[in-house]
Amino acid sequence: MTTQREEFGSRIGFILAAAGSAVGIGNLVGFPVNAAKNGGGAFLLIYAIFVFTVCLPVMMAELAAGRKSNKNPLGAYQYFAPNQKLWSIGGWLSLITPFMIAVFYAVITLWVLGYLVAIISGDLNLVANPDYFGKFINSSKVFLYLAIITGIVWYILQSGIKEGIEKGAKFMMPTLFIMLVALVAFVLTQDNAAAGLHFYLVPDASKITPAVVNGALGQAFFSLSLGMGIMITYGSYMSRHNSIPGSAKMIAICDTGVAFTAGLMILPAIFSFNPDINPEELSSSSVSLIFTFLPKIFLALESSIGYIGASFIAASFFLLVLFAALTSLVSIIEVPVSGVMDQLGKTRKQALTIIGGGMILLSVFCALSFGLVSFFTEFAIYGGGIKSFFDLIIDVFYETILPLNGFLICMLVSYRWKRSEMHKELEKGDDNFHGSFTERYVDFSLSTFIPVILFLIFLNTVALKFFSFDVIAELF
Ligand code: TRP
Repeated sequence: MTTQREEFGSRIGFILAAAGSAVGIGNLVGFPVNAAKNGGGAFLLIYAIFVFTVCLPVMMAELAAGRKSNKNPLGAYQYFAPNQKLWSIGGWLSLITPFMIAVFYAVITLWVLGYLVAIISGDLNLVANPDYFGKFINSSKVFLYLAIITGIVWYILQSGIKEGIEKGAKFMMPTLFIMLVALVAFVLTQDNAAAGLHFYLVPDASKITPAVVNGALGQAFFSLSLGMGIMITYGSYMSRHNSIPGSAKMIAICDTGVAFTAGLMILPAIFSFNPDINPEELSSSSVSLIFTFLPKIFLALESSIGYIGASFIAASFFLLVLFAALTSLVSIIEVPVSGVMDQLGKTRKQALTIIGGGMILLSVFCALSFGLVSFFTEFAIYGGGIKSFFDLIIDVFYETILPLNGFLICMLVSYRWKRSEMHKELEKGDDNFHGSFTERYVDFSLSTFIPVILFLIFLNTVALKFFSFDVIAELF
């Protein structure tokens, strides 16, 4: 290698960037509403257990594989399993998956920007009408917002790891935390907020079914940016003086902390601004909650703090979501960008041009798949329905391939890389890791039950999504 690989400048910068990747739209609305509907405190407990027992070891494995190989995910697979075609499929999957996720995530992010702009321009009353969403996503404005989002991400990524990703995260993440806490404080002072807290936190063990447990694990795994190649890539930019186990714990705590805190804002808000709500009817999809449900909730504030006050709260919320989405988008696009840089020997700018060009094209196809162009709107038929191009990407890459990628990385680090070598990597920068309980647990779990669980989740999702066969319902 001729040039030195870029590196994060500080431990806190690295943690904020990785936590920024993990904290996304799903943390802010999807998680709280799912938790509330699926057993409240009981769900939260199961989720936290999965984060620490299943997801953390996988995160450590990804970070270690990246830092050891000094490469993007494909390079990492080739490093540990040289000249092995079958393994390089895993590497390719870990480059293509983030690319495709970035495509649809960019579309959702541009919607958030569009709503933010509309609210700031005084249109909260229009936005609060549930029909607005359908009109907005099929308007020509989306192309303008796509261009703006692409421009922001481009600017951050072309500045590199330290000056771009790290600086961006150091600004956006603390701002996000502060806004979140301020919104929680505001919402909790409203009437009826306690009913929301009650619904969110009081455990209801009767709601815990096998399907809920499966959902909690899936949610924890996705939320932490696992299986997306992100932690491998970020690991390759991590200093050897930093502790991988310690950083992984911090990232998990931040991600789970933000998701939990968001619930202290979302559920009391739903209850106090709209007391007649039947929570069981809330959609579990983050997209429909953010765009068709929450704006209505914010508008209801008009009676207590006026239209401007309500718009201010709504705009703060959408800015918060925008920051969360941007830091995730940046991290996920960095994966294929680093792939093109390493594998094809391109400069950062050239790699960005190649990946950015492809992404814009596919994002436009997604944007056209809500009715504008019937070829994309009715793109495929499976799982008992007609699916758009956008649905197909989400179902294949976001829902299905991620656990498979997680399975493959566990197998790679446990069975292609000498386990003792992986432990040496985990011990670098961490004096206390050697011989610790965590070390023994990570070694055992990654080579035994974690890959089994991830593979079962993968099979279950394939059966459910593509063959409408619900394995869990059949078994239990
Ligand atoms: N937690 C994220 C979310 O809530 C999921 C996610 C993690 C993600 N990493 C990502 C999404 C990177 C897009 C890009 O949305």
